[in-house]
Amino acid sequence: MAAICNLAELPGLLLPWYRENRRDLPWRADRQPYHVWLSEIMLQQTRVEAVKGYYTRFLAALPDIPALARCDDEVLHKLWEGLGYYSRVRNLKKAAQVVMERHGGVFPESYADVLALPGIGEYTAGAICSIAFNQPTPAVDGNVLRVLARLLDDPSPIDLPETKRRITGLLAEIYPKEAGDFTQALMELGATVCGPNRAPDCEHCPCKELCLGFQRGEAESLPVKSPKKARRQEDRTVLILSCDNRFALEKRPQTGLLAGLWQFPNVAGKLDTQDALDAVCAMGLHPREILRETEKTHVFTHIQWNMKGFYLEVEACGGSFQWFTEKEINLQAALPTAFRQFLER
Ligand code: ADE
Repeated sequence: MAAICNLAELPGLLLPWYRENRRDLPWRADRQPYHVWLSEIMLQQTRVEAVKGYYTRFLAALPDIPALARCDDEVLHKLWEGLGYYSRVRNLKKAAQVVMERHGGVFPESYADVLALPGIGEYTAGAICSIAFNQPTPAVDGNVLRVLARLLDDPSPIDLPETKRRITGLLAEIYPKEAGDFTQALMELGATVCGPNRAPDCEHCPCKELCLGFQRGEAESLPVKSPKKARRQEDRTVLILSCDNRFALEKRPQTGLLAGLWQFPNVAGKLDTQDALDAVCAMGLHPREILRETEKTHVFTHIQWNMKGFYLEVEACGGSFQWFTEKEINLQAALPTAFRQFLER
C-alpha cells in the first residue's frame, strides 16, 4: 500500500521546533497588524537580511498607519530606495488611506476586508490574519509550497494556480489554534532547513518522519517548476552628466517601471561615443569631456537592462534636469539601484 502523509501531525511536530529554533527578527517582537503587514510586504521577493534595516528605519519614520497615510511620496520612495518593486510602497500608502477612510484608522480583522486592501493578495492576507489575529488562514508562498511539495512527494509544478489552491485547502484543514505560530513555523522551515536552491537539511528536520519526499529519497529533486520564460533584454545608454560637482537627474513617468522615481538621463539602445555626445547636445547641454565609460546590468522580474554608461562633464547645469550634489542624492532623491550603481566607484 502506498504511504500517505498524515498532514494532521504537522502542527504537533512543527510548533515545538519553531519555539525552540525561531530566528529573532525585528517583526517578531510583537503582533501589531501594521507591523505584520509592513514586514510581509517588505519580505515579498526580498531576503530577510536585506529587510531588517529597512523595516526598522521605516517604522522609526512612520510609526503608525495615520503617519503612513499622510506621508509625502518623496519621503516614502526614499525609505524604500534600493528595496525594489516600488509599487509595493505606493500600495502600502494607498491601503493606509483606505484603512483611515473605510475602517476609521483601525486595521480590519476580516480576511475579506484585508484582501480588499490595495497591494494585498491571498498570501499576505493569510499571513496578516493568522499572525496578527490568530485566524486559520494559510499563507502560501514559494517557501511553503516547497515544504509541502516535499512533505507530500508531490510533483505538481508549484507555479500553477491549481497547485497553490490545492495546497492552501489541505493546510486550511489542519490549522491549529496557534495559527500565527504555525504560519511562521512553516515559513521558518522553508527559509532554513527546507530552504531554496540547495539540498534540504533533512537530518535536522522536525518533520522527516512525516515527509514522503525524505522517505522516498525524492526531497532534493522537489519542488517541480514549469520552465521559465526568458527575460526580455533591453539595451540602454545612461548619461551621467556632471557640472560643478552636481549630477543631472530627472523624474521617471508616474506610471510603468520605477514610476515616479529619479533617474539619470538615458536613452534606448547602446550608443557609440559620437551618438552619446549628440544625444547630450539634443538635451540642450554642451559636453566638455567624456570622463569614462562603463557597462552595468540590472535584472527586473521580466526585463533585463544591459546598460552602457557615459560619464560626461558639461559646461553648465542646464536642460530640463534637476542638478543634485552626491550628498543631496543620498539624502533626498530616491534613485533606484539600476541607476545608483553608476555612482559606486
Ligand atoms: N518570509 C515571509 N514572511 C516572513 C516572516 N514573517 N518571517 C520570516 N521570513 C518571512
